[in-house]
Amino acid sequence: MNTEHKAQTELDATEVKACCALAYQSDAARLLLGDSFHPGGIRLTEHLGSLLQLAPGQRVLDVASGQGRSALALAQRFGCHVLGIEYGAEAVRQATEAAIEANITHLVTFQQGDAEQLPVATGSFDAVICECAFCTFPDKATAATEFQRVLKPGGQLGLSDLTRTGEVPADLQGLLAWIACIADAQPVQAYTRYLTDAGLHPTLVEAHDEALQEMVQQIQGKLLGAELLLRLQKIELPASFNLEQAKKLARAARTAIQAQTFGYVVILARQSA
Ligand SMILES: C[S@@+](CC[C@H](N)C(=O)[O-])C[C@H]1O[C@@H](n2cnc3c(N)ncnc32)[C@H](O)[C@@H]1O
Repeated sequence: MNTEHKAQTELDATEVKACCALAYQSDAARLLLGDSFHPGGIRLTEHLGSLLQLAPGQRVLDVASGQGRSALALAQRFGCHVLGIEYGAEAVRQATEAAIEANITHLVTFQQGDAEQLPVATGSFDAVICECAFCTFPDKATAATEFQRVLKPGGQLGLSDLTRTGEVPADLQGLLAWIACIADAQPVQAYTRYLTDAGLHPTLVEAHDEALQEMVQQIQGKLLGAELLLRLQKIELPASFNLEQAKKLARAARTAIQAQTFGYVVILARQSA
């Protein structure tokens, strides 16, 4: 790769991460998604925790922890210690506030960081989770290597993410689609290959397509509600939020999900003992 092209690629990668973080820490994201930013919500997070057999005293890393809802839920349900690493500074602040409010700072903490360069020691976690975020990382191979690096021998990764079969439709390829986890969603086999190449051993692949369908339906409902309130002049939307574009994206996503172009999956992988 020549220097100019490399610099351009790196700039784009940084821009994607920053835009993604900004979008997910916005009021619009909370309005549309609530505070759990993945299909299946906390129910699927707790299922992931059960599959990983989380237990009191264990150390869990939540990579791309968003508003921190999953970290809080896992600590409350399983009694484990959870560190959330998240790119967005404002999201880290909000998640920390939520932990203080829930009176659980003895178990849950948040820190700003990049999934592709995790600011934690090698071999220091019993489990790593990453929900609906791996698909947004520009350098998935490096992120997978980081998951492997930070796991203790025998530790487990629990990934949940958007999957795709076939080509991404043209109307789902822009930056907004990337942020919405769609544009760079990969086939399941590509995800397991990233993990295998990083030295992890996939042990389970579980389909949860219905959770994705439900989420997109809920988002469409909320967009319609927002449009109505806007017409009645009951709400104002941030200038950066383009309602028409969001409706178009949600419509295209629903059509693609119905055509089974997209799905949602849980993948477990183990570190060698
Ligand atoms: C769809 S949200 C999922 C958030 C959370 N895992 C959840 O399920 O509620 C994707 C999150 O990934 C974060 N993110 C994107 N790229 C990242 C990176 N390179 N390192 C850390 N976090 C990142 C975004 O800021 C955003 O909070």
